[in-house]
Amino acid sequence: MQAKQLTPAIGAVVSDIDLCKPLSAAQCSELLALLVEHHVLFFENQPVTPRQHRDLAANFGALHVHPVYPHDPEVEEIIVLDTNMKNPPDSDTWHTDVPFIEEPPMGALLSARVLPPTGGDTMWTSCIAAYDALDDEYKSLIENLTAEHDIAAAFTDDRYGATPEARAQLAAAREKNPPMVHPVVRTHPVSGKRGIYVNHSFTTRIIELEPKKGAEVLNFLTSHVARPEFTVRWKWKPYDLAFWDNRLTQHYAFADYLPHRRVMHRATILGDKPFR
Ligand code: SIN
Repeated sequence: MQAKQLTPAIGAVVSDIDLCKPLSAAQCSELLALLVEHHVLFFENQPVTPRQHRDLAANFGALHVHPVYPHDPEVEEIIVLDTNMKNPPDSDTWHTDVPFIEEPPMGALLSARVLPPTGGDTMWTSCIAAYDALDDEYKSLIENLTAEHDIAAAFTDDRYGATPEARAQLAAAREKNPPMVHPVVRTHPVSGKRGIYVNHSFTTRIIELEPKKGAEVLNFLTSHVARPEFTVRWKWKPYDLAFWDNRLTQHYAFADYLPHRRVMHRATILGDKPFR
């Protein structure tokens, strides 16, 4: 396979690989090495079925079943993100996926199924590049901090609780996923690089700081990670597939395409407990 780097900080397009076919152990290792190097990989024209998508993701670890998002009728590990006038887009804030569990996902594979005529791009940012750009004084300020991540911050009753059944599902999801504390700066378990691990959607507070100072640090870090220099923007074509390292990246899906519809399928691969 070939990889073409897209920006200095993040992203590569990978060609000469067919993701609809089972991968060899050597191909999986090569992909993982590329993922650690580039943080997000893009593949063009990969029309995976939901089962192929699940099997592809399962090469890299156990899969997460989302407690709120709907899934493919036959494959529960494939989330269906079908956004339209009745279900408006909700991923237009910078976030990492599922940080509210003890062992958050190491990665995710997103497949474009139905696209608007224009718009609906997704951006990713490198939280390693963002951390590296901090000065030493700021790095030592945040070095030993921890922060809370809460499913309820993003999955609110207002947005997801339209019916009594939906509210009951949300309540069950929150009960099963109480707020989780992780380090503000985590070390990537493979590369050993360090990066910022707080995000706008799910991180609610910094445990060791009084609320005003904590909010100030959180606001600074969640804006800092979004600086354009740390990002890559992908303009989707049907059956493009993105594979991102969810440990030290964040992403943002543009919500600029209504009244058109956009359908994406996501498989989410579990990871390990973040550490300093
Ligand atoms: C997500 O936030 O996981 C989905 C991103 C997208 O729909 O582009």
